[in-house]
Amino acid sequence: MFYNTFMSVLEIKKFPEKVLKQKTTPVENIDSRIQLLIDDMVETMHSARGLGLAANQVGVSQRLCVLDLSMKDENSRLIVLINPVIAEKEGILDAEEGCLSIPGYMTTIRRPEKVFVKGHDREGKPVEIETAGLLARALQHEIDHLDGLLFIDRMSPIRREFFKRRYKKSLKESAKE
Ligand code: NI
Repeated sequence: MFYNTFMSVLEIKKFPEKVLKQKTTPVENIDSRIQLLIDDMVETMHSARGLGLAANQVGVSQRLCVLDLSMKDENSRLIVLINPVIAEKEGILDAEEGCLSIPGYMTTIRRPEKVFVKGHDREGKPVEIETAGLLARALQHEIDHLDGLLFIDRMSPIRREFFKRRYKKSLKESAKE
């Protein structure tokens, strides 16, 4: 583990905040500022019990994300991806998804089943991941975030409108409490 001693839990931006809708900028230098952001994102993801977190979910519009599926799969490890891209995808699979930026809502989303993802780790070393299953889905979900897409953008327009109405209503109700 590479934790520094000054890690902090960051505020997670929630739908419909604008930063979630904007495509992020590639990271040009992996410096101590970026590494500190990564460590804070790991801390924030673990504290929120999430499987992944993209930088724009904490309000920083840079192309990097962290993932940790060890809650669901004990063989998995922490993954840090700087400037990730999906180089190849294959197959199709429907599965349930949720998102820390859309709390309390889960729905079935159709995505490619397998992916080949390339990027760089926290130290700038090249990373290549070829995978299927939950990790493939989580990678696509986080890379979507970095492109300014939420999983609700993958739903049909009718289901998305239905979701938005329900979500706005629940926001109003929680504001009243
Ligand atoms: Ni998400």
